[in-house]
Amino acid sequence: APAQIGVTGLAVMGRNLARNLARHGFTVALHNRTHARTESLVAEHGDEGTFVPSERLEDFVASLERPRAIIVMVKAGGPTDAVVDELVPLLDEGDIVIDCGNAHFADTRRREQALSEHGLHFVGAGVSGGEVGALEGPSIMPGGSAQSYEKLGPIFESIAAQVDGTPCCVHVGPDGAGHFVKMVHNGIEYADMQLIAEAYDLLRSGLGAAPAQIADTFREWNSGDLESFLIEITADVLAHTDAATGEAFVDVVLDQAEQKGTGRWTVQNALELGVPITGIAEATFARSLSGHAEQRAAAAQAFATPAEEGFADDPQAFTDDVRKALYASKVVAYAQGFDHIAAGSDEYGWDVDPGAMATIWRGGCIIRAKFLDRIREAYDDQPDLPTLLVAPYFAAAVQDGVDSWRRVVAAAARAGIPTPAFSSSLAYFDALRRPRLPAALIQGLRDNFGAHTYRRVDRDGTFHTEWSQDLVEHEA
Ligand code: 6PG
Repeated sequence: APAQIGVTGLAVMGRNLARNLARHGFTVALHNRTHARTESLVAEHGDEGTFVPSERLEDFVASLERPRAIIVMVKAGGPTDAVVDELVPLLDEGDIVIDCGNAHFADTRRREQALSEHGLHFVGAGVSGGEVGALEGPSIMPGGSAQSYEKLGPIFESIAAQVDGTPCCVHVGPDGAGHFVKMVHNGIEYADMQLIAEAYDLLRSGLGAAPAQIADTFREWNSGDLESFLIEITADVLAHTDAATGEAFVDVVLDQAEQKGTGRWTVQNALELGVPITGIAEATFARSLSGHAEQRAAAAQAFATPAEEGFADDPQAFTDDVRKALYASKVVAYAQGFDHIAAGSDEYGWDVDPGAMATIWRGGCIIRAKFLDRIREAYDDQPDLPTLLVAPYFAAAVQDGVDSWRRVVAAAARAGIPTPAFSSSLAYFDALRRPRLPAALIQGLRDNFGAHTYRRVDRDGTFHTEWSQDLVEHEA
């Protein structure tokens, strides 16, 4: 029988997606540039379902039922273009090419446009959950045409993670919408991880707790509002002992965080759209900063650590403050991420449903968390929510945590413990809630040095003050 779906590119993600599909009863066509990889997949896992391996791309394409659905799982950028270019001449009208990698959504838009001119569908599908997710149930964020989803929906929804009987997959929107949402997902992932790292640093450097103790704290936190995959694995990583040295694993790892670039894309795009995703930006920059080893060494030599006088009189109370600060900052990170999705959706005309995104992030993906249910409810109750921060549930949570948040940020500043994500999230919250901002002064300065004009609180119109001529003000 012809295969229902094909996968080309059988490195670990492609391989695991193919196995997941086969395990769910789909007949899966397989192809890889180096055929040995295809053979090893069939040899090792052929009993998990029905695979149709092909050595040549032509045979792979011919082995698929029409309209064909072909997952391309190769490196983003040039390699993806190369495979797509090879595929296109072999395909027929209505066939669907699916890119499940972390592609930039602008590339996806371009490819979708190009393939639509050949009567083909190109679907950029964000897939989150790492290797294990790909095999056991990822969160899937497919973009592309509604027509392509008629074929792909039932397949993807069956292999995706399921939460309360609901699949973690939905048609996100046209062309690059899926990859855009996956990009923002990764931005939130960066913020989430940075916040966790800062919380750890506060407990470690501030309270002097050992990694194993902090692991217990995170494990405890994971049974409350903070319950999430990242908090859970933080406990595991902190509890881990390095086999070679017997030291805490976290102490033998070089403290320079790397990135493949999705966080950077998120921040770049947010700058273009004018969305203040400050927590995500700080998290991305914090990774860059950690990598500047020479500057760090020079500064470490030049400046002493501040005396940590009276850091926390009551460690238990401080730990609780950190938990609340973490939660409030996390709400800010998600609020900013959802703002970003809304802005992208407006800009590119996608009509993305934010509640549906919260729904498909509840399982499978790296940022899966209990409180995504609350986010979904918030958008169900009020689809045009101005910011997640004012949804009743989150407003109450932030209100409840704000004193702790301030104490934590203040204590960190006094002790010289950098908390860029905690601090910037608090600053974001304070800036949003303040009736009046010093932006008025910035407008005055711009008008003063560059006649850039300003608007007034008491009258409509655009104004300019003749600063050199007795401060005459007139409508610009
Ligand atoms: C996921 C992850 C994944 C991402 C890694 C690495 O959702 O499964 O987001 O797609 O590639 O987390 O990202 P960095 O190397 O940029 O940290």
